[in-house]
Amino acid sequence: MKILYFTSTGNNLYISRRLGGELLSIPQLMKNRDFNIFDDVVGIVFPVYYATSPKMIREFLKEVNITTDYLFLICSYGSDGDQNALKIMAKTLKKKGINVNYTNSVLMVDNYLPIFDMVQEKNIKDDFEIDAQIDIIKNDIESRKEYRLFKKSFTDIPHIEKVLEKIMTKRYHIIVGEGCINCGICVKVCPRANIILTEEKPVLADNCEFCLGCAHHCKNKVFTINNEPNDERYINSHVKVSEIIISNNVGD
Ligand SMILES: Cc1cc2nc3c(=O)[nH]c(=O)nc-3n(C[C@H](O)[C@H](O)[C@H](O)COP(=O)(O)O)c2cc1C
Ligand code: SF4
Ligand code: SF4
Repeated sequence: MKILYFTSTGNNLYISRRLGGELLSIPQLMKNRDFNIFDDVVGIVFPVYYATSPKMIREFLKEVNITTDYLFLICSYGSDGDQNALKIMAKTLKKKGINVNYTNSVLMVDNYLPIFDMVQEKNIKDDFEIDAQIDIIKNDIESRKEYRLFKKSFTDIPHIEKVLEKIMTKRYHIIVGEGCINCGICVKVCPRANIILTEEKPVLADNCEFCLGCAHHCKNKVFTINNEPNDERYINSHVKVSEIIISNNVGD
């Protein structure tokens, strides 16, 4: 089994690890232009961004060829839009002649700093339920269950993902403040190689995914988001920042 995953704060790496198999990071596959995936079972594990998948995954799906007997899609999400994201991805793959056998989603901490308070999120979504959700999915995959839900939700407005992405990216932006100690972590966790480190502070280029990895993983809280509720940050408690770096460091 091969699992293709994308993560910023570790939730999807945690899910992928618990499901087992060979883990392949999508930013690394993109960097190496490695687009031919073969295995008896293949999964794509990703976070929901604006009721769809992150831009990088949509770019990856345009290029990828997947040959498998059983393909599953799992997304992690914090509030809503999971079924919309799965539906869009299954449709995209179908257009390429790739059949999806199973989709499901895992409710986890919502790492979207402009709206969600990380203190509350960490308190509300405890590990027990998350592990239980993943165990059900693991059993389903092991028994090669055929399942696609796409249940109704408020994000069923046509093209909601386009509307959300447009409004939110216009409304919220990353502010680079003071206090940088030049540790280089933000550069290494960025899946887009979008950060350049100068002597005083990091500079963001114009290829941002808004994954917020730089903000969550900078210990000195140099990155803030306009109007965010507070400066609490998040990393999945089972994942180390060194593992996020292995997944996302696409620099030279
Ligand atoms: C830019 C952005 C947009 C997001 N949009 C949604 C959304 O529409 N619906 C939702 O439920 N969660 C949304 N989230 C939350 C993430 O999907 C969720 O926290 C996910 O588990 C993060 O996975 P990771 O830890 O592997 O990066 C968003 C997060 C980011 C950074
Ligand atoms: S992670 Fe923070 S302290 Fe480290 S280089 Fe980046 S901005 Fe500076
Ligand atoms: S600059 Fe920050 S938010 Fe943008 S892609 Fe890189 S890590 Fe993510």
